[in-house]
Amino acid sequence: MALTAIHEILDFKGLLLFVVAFLLVADYLKNRNPPNYPPSPFSLPLLGNIFNMDSREPHIYLTKLGHAYNNIFSLRLGRDKVVFITGYKMVKEALVTQAENFVDRPYSPLLARVYSGNAGLFFSNGQMWKKQRHFALSTLRNFGLGKKTMELAICEESRFLLDEMDKQKGATFDPTILFNNAVSNIICQMVFGQRFDYADHQFRTMLKYISKNIQIEGSIWGQLYEAFPGIMKHLPGPHNDMFSNYKILHAFVREFIIKHKAELDPSEPRDYIDSFLIEMMEKPHETADGFDEQNLVPCVLDLFLAGTETTSTTLCWGLIYLITYPEVQEKVHEEKDRVIGRSREPSIADKANMPFTEAVIHEILRFGDIVPMNGLRVADKDTTLGECFIPKEKGSVWGSSLLEWNSSYFLSVCSENFDFQPQRVRSSTLME
Ligand code: HEM
Repeated sequence: MALTAIHEILDFKGLLLFVVAFLLVADYLKNRNPPNYPPSPFSLPLLGNIFNMDSREPHIYLTKLGHAYNNIFSLRLGRDKVVFITGYKMVKEALVTQAENFVDRPYSPLLARVYSGNAGLFFSNGQMWKKQRHFALSTLRNFGLGKKTMELAICEESRFLLDEMDKQKGATFDPTILFNNAVSNIICQMVFGQRFDYADHQFRTMLKYISKNIQIEGSIWGQLYEAFPGIMKHLPGPHNDMFSNYKILHAFVREFIIKHKAELDPSEPRDYIDSFLIEMMEKPHETADGFDEQNLVPCVLDLFLAGTETTSTTLCWGLIYLITYPEVQEKVHEEKDRVIGRSREPSIADKANMPFTEAVIHEILRFGDIVPMNGLRVADKDTTLGECFIPKEKGSVWGSSLLEWNSSYFLSVCSENFDFQPQRVRSSTLME
């Protein structure tokens, strides 16, 4: 009897040892790097480098690695390997010189759960991305993007913003939410055909959930979900809020779509949603292009997610830097008074005569590093970057993604100095 029990324990131990050994060998084989793959710090079997990352200040950790590994290195974050590139030269090499190789975005378990697959503007790939991006750009242009009408809308919104600031009567206050409201209203006018009062409950709720989700996605919880979705979806934590917030955001956008459908006059589209609904009616069979109601919600949300937080964060950094460097603020004032004066509103035509202010805006974008981690890209072909080899993701065991770092420096300089082709290349911003 006792002998059988000992046998059973030994058998169980043996089995356990076999399973552990098997997992370790399988993990090693699956994650072997090809020759010249970007170097990485030591990573734990099965877990990779996810716990090396400083969860509060990942950018500091990544910057240090960038210096240590000459601007290109890799980390294993759960099941995925990610190649990080840092520094202007390396980012330019990847996203300008070899842009064709890095057009697509990798699969994201988080986005797949929220958007149900290839959808929206930011995370879609292939034909859908090309069509939707082109449609978004041309439609937003029709509704004022980069035109005089938008300039007037921005001037009007600035008056609302200043009125709100005046209401604080000189007391200290946090301008973040106000900036968010103002910037978002410009997008609302093009997408929903209306602006919202800053006190509007629904509008405030939508912006709150957008900000919260951006925060959670960038936090360790978002990273853990991307790395171990199978486990994380059963665990409690803030990542679950993200999914319930998305549901509320979906419902908010859906309400607008229903209203737009009821009032639609195909001969007179009022905004992006109307134009999308018309495109759906005119090309009902071209489903691969993503013109269906299911895709309209993520496209609208992407415009808000990509456009609101970025621009209002830029305004916040602008304010901080102008306060920190009063001598720069004074020079901007001086240029503004000289070129525009105090009796009229600024116009985009003044830009040509305000080189100092323009340089300050560029410096704010560069120094503020508005989107430090940028959007992930995936290598569509075997690619050599610097001295390193990055294998094509699809069909390869060493699936590699590429993340640019310190991107805003790259963006602000490259949009000025290089022949940038946003149609072919997944570039910085729709505003280009
Ligand atoms: C200062 C303001 C802004 C900054 C710093 C910024 C930055 C960025 C960055 C870094 C990306 C990722 C590019 C890449 O993957 O290489 C991006 C993509 C994008 N941005 Fe912006 N953005 C700004 C304003 C806006 C605005 C106002 C809108 C829309 C109204 C917008 C819409 C988009 C969209 C739709 C994408 C996805 C493009 C694609 O994947 O094809 N952005 N932006």
